[in-house]
Amino acid sequence: MAKTGKTVFFCRECGYESSKWLGQCPGCREVGTFVEEPVREKNSRLKKPLWDSQPVTINEVSAKDEERISTGFCELDRVLGGGVVPGGLILVGGDPGIGKSTLLLQVCRNMSNDGKNIIYISGEESLKQIKLRANRMGQFSDRLQLLSETSLDVIESVVEKLKPDAVVIDSIQTVFREDISSAPGSVSQVRESTNTLMQMAKGSAIPIFIVGHVTKEGVVAGPRVLEHMVDTVLYFEGDRHAAYRIIRTVKNRFGATNEIGVFEMREDGLQQVLNPSEFMLEGRPEDASGSVVSCLMEGTRPILVEIQALITHTNFGIPRRTSVGTDYNRVNLLMAVIEKRVGIQMSDYDAYVNVAGGMKINEPAMDLALVMALIGSYKNRVIDADTIVFGEVGLAGEVRAVSQVEQRVLEAKKLGFKRCILPAVCVKNIQKADGILLEGVNNIKEAADII
Ligand code: TYD
Ligand code: MG
Repeated sequence: MAKTGKTVFFCRECGYESSKWLGQCPGCREVGTFVEEPVREKNSRLKKPLWDSQPVTINEVSAKDEERISTGFCELDRVLGGGVVPGGLILVGGDPGIGKSTLLLQVCRNMSNDGKNIIYISGEESLKQIKLRANRMGQFSDRLQLLSETSLDVIESVVEKLKPDAVVIDSIQTVFREDISSAPGSVSQVRESTNTLMQMAKGSAIPIFIVGHVTKEGVVAGPRVLEHMVDTVLYFEGDRHAAYRIIRTVKNRFGATNEIGVFEMREDGLQQVLNPSEFMLEGRPEDASGSVVSCLMEGTRPILVEIQALITHTNFGIPRRTSVGTDYNRVNLLMAVIEKRVGIQMSDYDAYVNVAGGMKINEPAMDLALVMALIGSYKNRVIDADTIVFGEVGLAGEVRAVSQVEQRVLEAKKLGFKRCILPAVCVKNIQKADGILLEGVNNIKEAADII
């Protein structure tokens, strides 16, 4: 690259470009996100024509379902919308140590055992380190090749020569293009590298997985444009100390978003969890007050979770409120609604709310379960262990309808629940309800009377 010696400033969050440093980004209004990087000469790299530029009539376009490659994990396939699409660029983001490299190495193993040629390119770990990890997972096929490389130009020529069926790049923050003088991981490197990878994927119909690190704010490090460029964005979530991990689609050009897949970290790598509800309810206390089971929807998937509340008399003037796994402000709001509409004086009490199992939920359908857990703990009454509760609560104390009621009820039935407390308006929408008692409530006063 012909160096000009000039520099330009980029916003780390959205990629906004400016010739001078700015305190606040005019693009995304973030403060203090500008970083300085050298200017790159335009057209320093010859662009190959990518797509055929002949227009075709819409009727000529074949709309057959793309053939999809299975990753060997049905949990992951569902999240991807039915498997990997040839030419798809998939970004896997997540905290360090959450298991991104482990998951992708296992995907490589499954795909190569299935007769596909795969290249796993790591710029983070030596071949020996990868081998040590692989040893825990069992046998690997010779179709999986490893490459320890960070130069994208080299990677490009290797991929062109070997024409694999899939490529993994671990991680986008370590690769660099030689014609760009800024350091690997910088805004322009990440952006241009992704661009090159996208051309590689689309040009040769090879699916490419890229690993992206996450900043402490929880977004993939590098500009937001990264997420706009790729076809699919998957986020690996979960507490590093808890065994389970959730992989979630944030964006998907080939399927629905908000789907989740659940995995468990074991000694021998990640194991898919096919029945997350059972997993989440493990070790539930049978007759404790303030414990209520509810059903949340993750994409198309119902998952049962246990919501726990503990109400104790406050020793200070200002009551303490703590919530783990759900929105603190929502808990405060619901307590205010209880105080006003049911007439329970909550301001003298500390309240602690916890979603057992470490799930993070912010679905309004959890409101009624939260309310019942809070009232249950206050009155020290036990709600039967075979009861499930869901419904949205409004400020007037009314219990409002939620979506996908039937799926929630069916999931509860499948796990042996006998009774369901739900919004009264939803009861008539349920056809297949034999074996489970449906109790509709109109407001939280009625729900409180049940307790
Ligand atoms: P890793 O996959 O390297 O995470 P990332 O690439 O997202 O930074 O690390 C996963 C963590 O899981 C690591 O702390 C070790 C642990 N682990 C297991 O518990 N079992 C296993 O079989 C493997 C491979 C890793
Ligand atoms: Mg890693």
